[in-house]
Amino acid sequence: MADFGNDGVINEYAAFEDGNGADPAAPPCNIIIFGATGDLTNRKLIPALFSLHCQGSLAPQARIVAFARRDLTDDLIREKMRKSVEDFAKDLWRDEAKRWPEFAQRIVYHRSDYDSPDGYNELKNRLDAFDTEFGTNGNRLYYLATPPQTYSQVVFQLRKARLNEQLSPDASKRNFSRIIIEKPFGQDLASARALNAEVRNSFREAQVYRIDHYLGKETVQNIFVFRFANAVFEPIWNQNFIDSVQITVAETVGVESRAGYFDQAGELRDMVQSHALQILTLVAMEPPVSLEANAIRDEKVKVLRSLRQMKAAEIAARTIRAQYVAGLAEGKAVPGYLQENGVSPQSLTETYVAMRCSVENWRWAGVPFFIRAGKRLPKRVTEINIVFKNIPEILLARMSYKGVEPNVLTVRIQPDEGISMRLGTKPPGLKMRVVPVDLDFTYGASFGQRMHDAYERLLLDAMNGDASLFTRDDEVEAEWAFATPIIEAWRDPEVSPIQTYMAGSWGPESASLLIRDSNPRRRWLDR
Ligand code: BG6
Repeated sequence: MADFGNDGVINEYAAFEDGNGADPAAPPCNIIIFGATGDLTNRKLIPALFSLHCQGSLAPQARIVAFARRDLTDDLIREKMRKSVEDFAKDLWRDEAKRWPEFAQRIVYHRSDYDSPDGYNELKNRLDAFDTEFGTNGNRLYYLATPPQTYSQVVFQLRKARLNEQLSPDASKRNFSRIIIEKPFGQDLASARALNAEVRNSFREAQVYRIDHYLGKETVQNIFVFRFANAVFEPIWNQNFIDSVQITVAETVGVESRAGYFDQAGELRDMVQSHALQILTLVAMEPPVSLEANAIRDEKVKVLRSLRQMKAAEIAARTIRAQYVAGLAEGKAVPGYLQENGVSPQSLTETYVAMRCSVENWRWAGVPFFIRAGKRLPKRVTEINIVFKNIPEILLARMSYKGVEPNVLTVRIQPDEGISMRLGTKPPGLKMRVVPVDLDFTYGASFGQRMHDAYERLLLDAMNGDASLFTRDDEVEAEWAFATPIIEAWRDPEVSPIQTYMAGSWGPESASLLIRDSNPRRRWLDR
C-alpha cells in the first residue's frame, strides 16, 4: 500500500491505545450528515451520536449539521430527531431523556439539493463560522446517508466547494476532512470501481471511511481479539484441525418499508457481499504485522483474494437462492415476498442465500466455508460455527452408531453475544456415554454492561482517525470480485433457479442438501 493513511491525525488502532480501558474521546469537529431526514439517520446515527454525547465521548464543541432537501427548520429537525431516539433507542431514552435539550443545541438544519453548488458554498461558510464560534478547528466529518445514486454528486460538490481539503498538514492541529460512505458501495465490481475512482478524485484514500456496520459490533471485533490474544487457538486454526466453518446471518424481518431498495439489491448484495464476507475475513485472516489500520486490512484483502471465484457450473452446484412465501414471523401470519408493498409480483429477487465457498490458501485448503443469510427466518441470529474434525473412529466413537459429535466453537455475534465451545463429556451415571455440553461465555454475564451500538464505535473511530473497522478501496473491490460472477450467473434462470421457503422456516430443503452433500456428517447447526 503506497498510502499508509496518515490523514493528519493518529491512525493507530485507537481502541487499543487506552491502557485503562476507557473509550477514547473524539477531537472537536463538525459532523455533516447528508440524508438527514432519512431512515438511517433517524434509526442509527442520531441515537448513536446522542449516546456518545451522554457518555462524554463527543467533544463539547462538536456541531451536527443535518443536510437534506426538505424545507425544515432547526426546531423541526430537532423534534423529528428527538422522536426517533425515543422510538428507536428506548433504553437510551429512558435513561438519558433529560440530556436531550443540551444535545439538541448541537444540531442545525441545512437545506440544499445534493447537486446545488450554492448549497455547498453556504455550507462551507457555515462550517467556517462554527470553527470560529465553537473552536471546531476546521475538522469535518461528512456522512453519506443518502441513496447511493447521489454519492457521486455529493463527493463532486464537496470538492468544488473545497470542502474536501484538509486545512493544515500539521498533524498536531488535527485538522481533518473525512467522509464516511454507507453501503451499498456499488452494485457490482464495475460500479464499485467507478465509484472508487470518483471518490478518489475528491478525497485521498486515507480520508475515506467505507462503513460496514457489522465491523462495529462488539463480538465481530472480538473475533480478532479472541484469535490473537489467546495462545490456544492459533495452532489449531487451520485445515489440520478444522473441518468446516458455518456463517449464519438470519433475520426475522422481511423487507419492511425498504422494498424500493431491496427488490433491486437482493440478499446477496445486501448481506453477503458485505457483512458475511467481512465476518469470513476475520475468521480466516493471518495475524497482521501490527495493529495499524492498513496492516489489518492488508490481511483481510489477502483472504478475499484467496476466495475462489466460482464459474457457472460451480455456482449452479454451490449456491442457492430463494424467496419467502407467506408464513409466520414471531408467531404472526405474514405475507410472502411477492405480496409485500412495493415488490414487483414477478420479482426474482432472492431473500435467502446459501453457498459453499473455498478460501484457497495454505491455511484453509479443503475447508469449506458455508454461508447462509436470509430474511424471515425463524429467529434473529448471527453466528459463526467453527466445526472441528471428528475424533478417530475408534474407542468412544465406536460406542454409538452416530459417533461422537465434533467440537464446535460458536461465536454468537447477536443476540446473546458470546462464545461457546462444545465438548464431549460423560454425563453422570453408571453407563459410559458421551454427550455434548457447551462451555459458555456471554457478554451479559461476564461484563453486565450495555453493549454499544455498532454506529457509536464507528462514528467515534472515524472522528479519531482510526480506519481499522472500515473497508478500504481494494477490499470493497475484492468483495465485489467474488460476488459479481454469482450475480451475473443468476441472471440465467437455469443457474440456481430461484426457490421458495416458508416465512418462519430455515430456508429451502436444498440448503440442507448443500451442506450434507459435501459430507454426510455435516449439517447446519441451528440452535
Ligand atoms: C443492513 C441491511 O446492512 O443490515 C439490512 O441493509 C439488514 O437489510 C441490516 O436488516 C441488519 O443489521 P443488524 O445490525 O440488525 O443485524
